[in-house]
Amino acid sequence: MAAAAAASSALPVLLLFLLPLSFAAGARSPCFTSFFSFGDSITDTGNQMLLAPEGNLPHCCFPPYGETYFGRPSGRCSDGRLIVDFIAEHLGLPLLTPFPGKLHSNDFPLGANFAEGGATALDFHFLAEKGIYNTHTNLSLQVEIDRFKELLATICSSPSECKDYLSKSLILLGEIGGIDYNRAFFEDVASDKIIAIVPYVVAEIGKSVKQLVELGAVTILIPGNLPIGCWPGYLTKFWSPNKEDYDPLSGCLVWYNNFAQHHNKLLQHQIVRLQKLYPHTNLIYGDYFGSATRFHRHPQKFGFTGSAVVACCGGGGPYNYNESLICGNPGSKACAEPSTYVNWDDHHFTEAAYRIVAKDVLEGPFSTPRFNASCLVGRTTDSGRHSSY
Ligand SMILES: *[C@@H]1O[C@H](CO)[C@@H](O)[C@H](O)[C@H]1NC(C)=O
Ligand SMILES: *[C@@H]1O[C@H](CO)[C@@H](O)[C@H](O)[C@H]1NC(C)=O
Ligand SMILES: *[C@@H]1O[C@H](CO)[C@@H](O)[C@H](O)[C@H]1NC(C)=O
Repeated sequence: MAAAAAASSALPVLLLFLLPLSFAAGARSPCFTSFFSFGDSITDTGNQMLLAPEGNLPHCCFPPYGETYFGRPSGRCSDGRLIVDFIAEHLGLPLLTPFPGKLHSNDFPLGANFAEGGATALDFHFLAEKGIYNTHTNLSLQVEIDRFKELLATICSSPSECKDYLSKSLILLGEIGGIDYNRAFFEDVASDKIIAIVPYVVAEIGKSVKQLVELGAVTILIPGNLPIGCWPGYLTKFWSPNKEDYDPLSGCLVWYNNFAQHHNKLLQHQIVRLQKLYPHTNLIYGDYFGSATRFHRHPQKFGFTGSAVVACCGGGGPYNYNESLICGNPGSKACAEPSTYVNWDDHHFTEAAYRIVAKDVLEGPFSTPRFNASCLVGRTTDSGRHSSY
């Protein structure tokens, strides 16, 4: 053990991370006694880090990631907390423990996070057939759902007990699907082919909803895609000399934002259809896009006096994104005050921006139907440097 620790520089980070998060016992949500989440790096609170091959940690596991919260990298792809963390705080629940699929403990009664950086909605083989190669990971939403089933079996022992338990859970299903599209766009797959996979992505999310409802889930929050035309990565790769390709207020790429909204429209149709099929459930669309658009168009009003389109952390260039010198790599640079930037890196928000999205979705107006405000108890704590233990 000591020899292994000495051999791996990654291990101290992992050990720190595995320490239980301190949690001031306060009021708990009257509606939810547990919380589970699925998705990609927008929601990953440590799975990718825990599953990374030794000596090959993803860039999100290196400073300055985590510099705002917890003052060290935690596997979150931001300077601090993510939307999922702020939701947990709003419910008076502890921040979710990542569950990478290896059963090392039965102690997850308050919930767990299955989201993993790089996860796609669609299966790896299916995407490959469509000419989209996910070089990063072959983890898909169904793999996360299967891990959830594996964990659930250790929490409750009969279908009726599981139904009872899950009826008091909040499920955050996404954002997911963003990576299916990112990979395709960055591999220069023709746009008509990418548009053609949207219905499959949405159907896959629907398939997960169905499985969760059959297990007993009642309240599922299903977020849509963010305005991808505002990511520094997209703004850099798809830079255009034509002014009309940009939204005059935000400076974002209109075509890519319209693409994200196309996904969101189909997703909302799917949610309406499933809600009719399962009238006893509460399927809520989380409008991440609407929330983000407000601060992308009026960044000053929300305290984003640095920039709404340039990344805080990166390797230079007009949007501070250079694919050969990404945030977390030696030589990359971060801004002095992340809370004044919308984007932390090429396709992740700062904690400050994630905090606003979480609040907008939970407290309104960016959810359909509106999230029940009486279910909220926790107030998110102030930003700044924190230690979790
Ligand atoms: C995913 O990748 C891992 C490691 O490369 C491999 O062991 C596993 O079989 C793959 N799974 C699928 C579904 O391709
Ligand atoms: C990106 O980073 C690489 C590696 O440091 C460097 O050689 C290159 O000039 C940079 N490109 C731009 C456009 O800044
Ligand atoms: C909202 O939550 C409260 C507290 O659990 C509950 O009493 C109320 O019925 C809920 N309202 C709706 C519309 O579901």
